[in-house]
Amino acid sequence: MKGRSSLVVGNWKMNGSLALAENWAKELAALWRQAAPAAEAGLCVPSVFLDRLVRSLRAEGLEAVEPGAEDVSVREGCGAFTGEVSASMLRDAGARLCIVGHSERRTLFGESNASVVLKVKALAAQGIRPIVCVGETREEREAGRTSEVILAQVRAVLEGCGIESLSGGAFAYEPLWAIGSGAAASLEQIEPVHAAIRAALCEADAGASEKVRVLYGGSVKPANASAILALPHVDGALVGGASLKAESFYGICACG
Ligand code: G3P
Repeated sequence: MKGRSSLVVGNWKMNGSLALAENWAKELAALWRQAAPAAEAGLCVPSVFLDRLVRSLRAEGLEAVEPGAEDVSVREGCGAFTGEVSASMLRDAGARLCIVGHSERRTLFGESNASVVLKVKALAAQGIRPIVCVGETREEREAGRTSEVILAQVRAVLEGCGIESLSGGAFAYEPLWAIGSGAAASLEQIEPVHAAIRAALCEADAGASEKVRVLYGGSVKPANASAILALPHVDGALVGGASLKAESFYGICACG
């Protein structure tokens, strides 16, 4: 489904620094000025770097790149929730995007479909576009359970918060076994999962589904981005390691 422009979003995970946020924006802006890619772009960083990223992108005139966060509290507004960062705080800091339900949060920090639903609702209330990650483990794939696992994750969100909450946002298919491995899933593995997610979105609401992208994540780099982004049901990429270098991130955006 290529009615939508590609969206390429970086995810720094627990990496980077204030200095990197500033230099990254400078380096990316220099490349962007030479040739602006057709793809839309965003960068999600640890929330302590968000304000610096926002200011640096603005100073470089790089409004085309949307700043984002990597997680958000299930709690809205303000209150006695030590250590939490709410969607309204992210919005105040300039976030336009936010990753939710990344597999690292699901497997290492106990994130559940129920908390993903609360987070998507909190983000929607603040006009922040959610990027909801779904993915299967290697064992689940080998057991032939990929579609079942992915569709259960997708439907839990669609049923829990309604497809309108995802408007402008995305699902990101990130097979756990491809993340950080250096080897992306094959094109033959990616396409059917994206087609199944797209079918589930259409089934929920064909009209509203047009405003929800389906991204691929897992070892995307400049060398494999063209082929992945050209797949019929791939609307963009969620990029981990390669997003830490502005040049690599630009290289992926340029494939969109
Ligand atoms: O969210 C992006 C991600 O999990 C993929 O990471 O390093 O394999 O691109 P990476």
